[in-house]
Amino acid sequence: MFLGIFLLTLAIFWTERRLVISDPITTKYIINHPLFVFGPGHEKAVNVSFGYGSIVLVSADRHRYLRNNIMNPSFSAKNVRAALPTIREIGRKLADRWEALGFPGNTVDISGTLSDAALDVMGDVILEHSFNALGGESEVGRLQRTLLNMVSSPTKFAQLIDAALSYVPDLIFRVLYYLPIQALHILREYKKITDDLSAQLAARARDEGPSDTPDFVGAFVRDDTVPDGEIGVHLRTVLTAGEDTTGTTLGWILYKLAQMPDLQQELRREIQLAAQKEMPDYDNMALLNAIINASAALLFPGELLNKHIYSGGFALAFLGGPGVCLGWRLAISELQVFVVELVGRFVLSLPENDSVRARVAMTLVAESADGKRGIPLHVEHVT
Ligand code: HEM
Repeated sequence: MFLGIFLLTLAIFWTERRLVISDPITTKYIINHPLFVFGPGHEKAVNVSFGYGSIVLVSADRHRYLRNNIMNPSFSAKNVRAALPTIREIGRKLADRWEALGFPGNTVDISGTLSDAALDVMGDVILEHSFNALGGESEVGRLQRTLLNMVSSPTKFAQLIDAALSYVPDLIFRVLYYLPIQALHILREYKKITDDLSAQLAARARDEGPSDTPDFVGAFVRDDTVPDGEIGVHLRTVLTAGEDTTGTTLGWILYKLAQMPDLQQELRREIQLAAQKEMPDYDNMALLNAIINASAALLFPGELLNKHIYSGGFALAFLGGPGVCLGWRLAISELQVFVVELVGRFVLSLPENDSVRARVAMTLVAESADGKRGIPLHVEHVT
């Protein structure tokens, strides 16, 4: 079979022409164009990872329906504002986790803890379910990380399969899913555990009935157009869309601050001033928001972006139009709170042998010269 895939891929490389675009403004224009559809390879990858019916692939009508009738309330400005104390609590747990893991005084890879915090926000704020990823107890977190690492560190063989994907008929693809391959085994395990979780959350939503506050899974349960078996698909979409994106962005912000100690110190002064209030006024912290805003440039590097970065506001990183990131308000709030908690408590600097560089995978992945994924930084207490 491997030989078959190899020959097929070779034939594709010889005959297929691909146009690769990295400019963010052009990308945004194309993605928002009514004629735009994802290619069959991407479609298959999404279907196999999340299951059929995910918001990222459905028709325009269904997309509008899922967002407006079911998903939007959980991510509204009102709900995100109400979640601020919970996000802050998770931010404190994140900083405590750094203490517990002995980060101060050492050079450590900070990236895993950041994604854990992002997963805990989705659990506590959106699902009302504690993953306790920061406590090191989340199987969903572990499996999701393994899968994302596999996708973002593709082996040569995986790259060949990716190129061949578009040409494999759907039926065969569904059969291939059950092959005894380690990566597919992890994917099946992840799907089972998230399907079990959605069944558990759906049963709870049925028991408790409609609530005054938005209930992500409950909204699917109470909608006639969504079969029970599809709820896991939406759960996986949101968990995947919200974890690595937020964790990676936060990682790059902290890395940049470690690279620029003066800017970091200036930000710390802004944080100390804001901390005089019981709840900092995050939206009015000019330097903090400029730095978060600039992180768009890291996610979508390109010369054009630099001209638009301060005028485009947050919107660029989250794209725009009907498919604009559903969780953008939540993500901004997480970034604000986590940066304030971490930079308020720790001084970050680059280790002497720093070789972190960016590689474009699904997000902008950070890896060292030896190809190891992560962001090693030197951490000290603020004195
Ligand atoms: C810094 C963090 C984040 C970044 C940079 C980001 C970026 C994006 C981008 C660029 C898209 C559009 C993708 C496309 O059209 O193909 C998107 C879509 C989406 N994002 Fe985010 N995202 C972030 C955080 C989150 C969070 C925290 C959640 C949820 C908890 C989330 C949920 C989603 C969903 C569900 C979609 C699909 C929306 C649709 O198709 O209508 N994202 N995100």
